[in-house]
Amino acid sequence: MSARRPLVAGNWKMHKTGVEAREHVARLRALLGDGELPAEVAVCPPFTALEAAARAASGSPIGVLAQAVHEAASGAHTGEVSAPMIVATGAEGVLVGHSERRAAGETDAQVAARVRAALDAGLQVIVCVGESLAQREAGETEPWLAAQVRAALTEVRADEVGALAIAYEPIWAIGTGRTATPEIAQQAAAHVRAVAGERLDPGVLRILYGGSVTPDNAGELMAQPDIDGALVGGASLDPDGFAAIVRAAS
Ligand code: PGA
Repeated sequence: MSARRPLVAGNWKMHKTGVEAREHVARLRALLGDGELPAEVAVCPPFTALEAAARAASGSPIGVLAQAVHEAASGAHTGEVSAPMIVATGAEGVLVGHSERRAAGETDAQVAARVRAALDAGLQVIVCVGESLAQREAGETEPWLAAQVRAALTEVRADEVGALAIAYEPIWAIGTGRTATPEIAQQAAAHVRAVAGERLDPGVLRILYGGSVTPDNAGELMAQPDIDGALVGGASLDPDGFAAIVRAAS
């Protein structure tokens, strides 16, 4: 058995108000029950629903993570949210470098600074990497992933490995229903682990897979030796489906 406890996180993206988040978390709590779970569980609501979700999850095994963070603690950054602000909502972590944020202009340097700022505030971090279809077809996947991983980890210390996970999310699989095969996902995850291993203990670091994960494919993906859980978008919006994905980690 692996020493790495699986992590299943639901990225709600721009869905759900505070009231809806509270209802969703309450339902998820009931579905997951009080017994031991095969995975650590987290939901990632929008900023405006973090506090409601954190309150609803309090005392349960459900962690609450934000979807993005700014690198500054405060300042003239209209529309941005800092790591200390996320901590103040009761959330415990944050996604950094999701491909939808990178597509909107987030750079490798910002990803590195945001990972650092989040860790400094005591947040758990899931940092996302992944290649486009054009990059995969051009045979550029491995160097691209290596560059993204090295850039994201530039400011991470070896002793912080437990506070960080990397999600391998091929862009062509996100929201498309075109899930990576377990073989492709495993190969990429192993590569990410090897590169991250230059800085962090590869036996401890958790690597997740994301991109059209569903209750039907989650088990086979998470059974791969280098895949320690899932970052789930669309399928996490349904509590029953998300609970089924959590159970598939066993
Ligand atoms: P998806 O999204 O599960 O809807 O493909 C995954 C993600 O973007 O994290």
